[in-house]
Parts: sequence; C-alpha cells; structure tokens
Amino acid sequence: MLARVRSATLLGIEAIPLSVECDLSPGIPQVLIVGLPDAAVREAAARVRAALRNAGFRIPPRRITVSLAPAGLRKQGAGLDLAIALGILAAAGEAPRDRLDRLLVLGELALDGRLRGVPGCLPAALMARREGIPEMVVPDGNRAEALAIRGPAVHGVADLLEAVRVLRGERTPDQPRELASAPVPPPGGDLNEVRGQAHARRALEVAAAGGHHLLMVGPPGCGKTMLARRLSGILPPLRQEEAIEATCIYSAAGLLREPGLLRLRPFRAPHHTISGVGLVGGGPGPRAGEATLAHHGVLFLDELAEFGRATLDVLRQPLEEGSVLITRGNRAVRLPARFTLVAAMNPCPCGQLGRTDRPCACTPATVANYRSRVSGPLLDRFDIQVEVPPLPLRDFENAPAGEDSAAVGARVAAARERLDREPAPPVEGEARRILHRAIRSLGLSARAHDAILRVARTIALLDGAASVGPAHVGEATQYRALERDPGSA
Ligand SMILES: Nc1ncnc2c1ncn2[C@@H]1O[C@H](COP(=O)(O)OP(=O)(O)OP(=O)(O)O)[C@@H](O)[C@H]1O
Ligand SMILES: [Mg+2]
Ligand SMILES: [Zn+2]
Repeated sequence: MLARVRSATLLGIEAIPLSVECDLSPGIPQVLIVGLPDAAVREAAARVRAALRNAGFRIPPRRITVSLAPAGLRKQGAGLDLAIALGILAAAGEAPRDRLDRLLVLGELALDGRLRGVPGCLPAALMARREGIPEMVVPDGNRAEALAIRGPAVHGVADLLEAVRVLRGERTPDQPRELASAPVPPPGGDLNEVRGQAHARRALEVAAAGGHHLLMVGPPGCGKTMLARRLSGILPPLRQEEAIEATCIYSAAGLLREPGLLRLRPFRAPHHTISGVGLVGGGPGPRAGEATLAHHGVLFLDELAEFGRATLDVLRQPLEEGSVLITRGNRAVRLPARFTLVAAMNPCPCGQLGRTDRPCACTPATVANYRSRVSGPLLDRFDIQVEVPPLPLRDFENAPAGEDSAAVGARVAAARERLDREPAPPVEGEARRILHRAIRSLGLSARAHDAILRVARTIALLDGAASVGPAHVGEATQYRALERDPGSA
C-alpha cells in the first residue's frame, strides 16, 4: 500500500514542495529513507518508529520505504518526521488517506509522539498558498507564525494523535487570533537619554530617514554605542511585505521569538570576533548570516577597527547587491541582505586623538595602522561620517534632555514617505555650485560627490523642501568627517 504526504524543505529562506511517499512491502521489517536525506532526515526513521509505538499505533512488520521527491534535492532537518509518520500510518491503513492531498504537513517528533517546533513554517505557509494547498498541519508552537499571512487553514497540533485526528476530519482549523498591538517602548532605549551630541543625533536622524550607512568616530565614553542602539527606535515599522520577508528569515533560521509577523526593524550587533561566515552566512543549510538577519533593519558594527579586515571585506557583496550568494557544492542560494550599516570606532588605538584636554599616546604609524584595518572601499560606503566629540562633565550636566525617539521617529517616517512616493527633489543651481566648490577645496572624490547629493536630498525631504538648496548641501558636506580631515577625525 502506498501513501503520499505533502511536505516541504527549506532552501535558503524559501520552502520547496516535497512529496513524501511511503510504501509497505513484504520483507525484513525496517524503515528505509531515500531521496538525498541529510543526517537529521535519515534519523527520522528511529524517531518515527518510537513515536508511533509510544502513541499506541501498531505498525505491521513490513519493509517500509520512504521516498522523498524530487529525488535530486537535498532534504534537511527533522521537519519531515510528521509527514513520514502520517505516511506510514496511511500506508498501513491505520489512518484514512483521502484528506492527505489537501494537507501540507510539517513537524519534528519526540520519541513520545509529541511534536516539536520546526524552522520555516512561515515560508511553508507562503508556499502552500502559492501551490493552492488549502490546509496545513504544524506543531503547536508554529501556529501563530503559519497564521501570520492570509494563507492555508492551519492546524497547530500538540502530538501525533492530534495530527491523525486531522486526517480523520475530526479537527477544525485554528482561528487566526488578532494579536494585541500594544505600543512597544523603543528598543535599545529612548533618544531622550542622550545628552548633548546634537550633531551626532542629527546625523542619526538623517541616516534613519534616507537609510544611509553611518560611521561615528570619537573617543571612549562619548555616547557612540548609546546613539547607535537607539537607531531602530526611530525607524518606521516594517511595511507588510517587508515584515513577511524579515519574518521568513527569522523563521527559517529558527530564531522567531514572538508570535505573528515581526513589526520592528531588526537590529543586529555582532561582536567583533565574528567570522566572515557568521557575518554573511554559509555552512550547511546554508545558515543566514548577520547581514541577512539585519535585512530591512540595522547592522551595527561596534568597534569597527577591531573586526578582522578580511571579515569586513565580505560585506562588500551585500552592500553592493543587497543580497548574499552562498554556494555549497554545485548549489547556490541567494539570501536577501539589505540593511543600514552603522559603525562606531575610536579615532586611534588610545582613543584620545584630537582631544585638547588629554594627550593622545599614539604615534602616526600606529594611528595609520589602526585606520588601515578598515579598508578604503568599505569606508567609502558610509555616506555619513561624523565625529562624536568628548562630552565634558560640565556640558554633560548642563545639557538639556534632547527630543525623544517618538518625535524624531515621526519626522523620519514623514521623510521616508516622501522618499517612497515622490520623485527626488531637484538640486538648485546655487546648491550645485556650492557642492562643486566644496569638492574642489576639500579634495573630495567623485564617489563623495554622489554621496553628498544623496544625503542632501534626504535632508531636503526631512526639511519638507521642494528642492535641494545650499543649506542642505552644506549640511551633507559636513558628514564627510574622515575625508575632510584625516588627521583628526
Ligand atoms: N551623550 C551622552 N548622554 C548620556 N549619557 C552618556 C552620553 N555619552 C556617554 N554616556 C554614558 O556613558 C556610557 C558609555 O557610553 P557609550 O558606551 O555610548 O560610549 P562609546 O562612545 O560607545 O565609548 P567606546 O568608544 O568606549 O565604546 C553610556 O552608557 C552612558 O551611560
Ligand atoms: Mg562603544
Ligand atoms: Zn591615540
């Protein structure tokens, strides 16, 4: 007797339809899984056998062949357990087969028959919708994720027995619950906790509005890390299609911690000891890297100069293409990776360069060596480069509390809306002349010219202006701290 169950396997962040065929035939009692299973899928045989027995099912002593089709595609993970178990039950006549074709089945089995959550249920729900599969059986823990889109009807089941009830038509699908959208406090703290540093705060706002990459350079303790962590709190919430994409990434990585779709833009802050693979992804699976986990959000590299230079250079591909291509053997998977890069660093190894009150202990050679840890092409990517000056205690105590994240976020949202809806504001003739004068007198590159124009446009949008004027270009030119004054930046 043969039974066919529909399931899925992940390729990057996409679910690929699979057919799990189970056949019982005379022969030595054993479970044989064919069709390029990885180790976890092969081990399904042992898990499924124990789960079936412990759930009280009696499987006839036959030879059981499980074939995963299409055969040429590598199958990974434990997510096929439930499909295999239901296929065996149906093939053995222990469960009806007539509803199998309407169901997409996913889930890992514990030995006692209970179901464990699996990665990729949201991508699988999207796939079911594409393929016109009307219902889905997933582990309880993945129910909210599968219900996050208008897609197939979802059965979130606790164990094998409950899944069999779905086959028998004894269970009604779960209702999507309206998720409470309680206001969330800005992640990483509120901007009103940052005292002084008006220039850096403004740079953060411009970076948020235009999605410009931002580099902050300054001595220890001036608030660089504090500022960067408050960026995601002033970014507009994810739009629906962005939220689906970002949630798929977290679902596929098994990192989804909240029910439903992600609402806030991701903020990733990997430690500087991270490897290149950790940053852009790779390995078996392949696994998404920090660049992909930061998709539609922020990738924050604190202490930029401490990252390995070779590690940082792998970021050039996602920065240029908005995605990473991971090749393993003869297979290539493209993962999205479009993020706002924010970095912070000290001006020199001792951190005091440029200060008048404390001497810098570094030699020009050690400073040059320190700077060279970040390659020129990467530095070039930061459209906004600001110096964050030390904050003397006196100023710190007298500095009034700045605006809060909600106020800044409202301006950012308005500017982004204009950015998305309207054509780019034209550049006034006078603004162009000022730009060219600045380029000549500061000796800036052609790349800097384009960056300044991009940033000036964002500033004009923030300003609500119809065109890019001299003041906008003037401010944008100030955000080239490193090129402007390499000796003290
Ligand atoms: N502008 C500021 N307003 C309020 N508090 C500040 C400010 N700057 C620094 N602080 C306080 O000092 C602490 C250290 O700041 P932060 O970690 O942001 O410094 P940093 O510039 O990242 O320094 P480092 O170069 O050593 O990483 C903060 O946690 C905060 O308590
Ligand atoms: Mg810091
Ligand atoms: Zn120094």
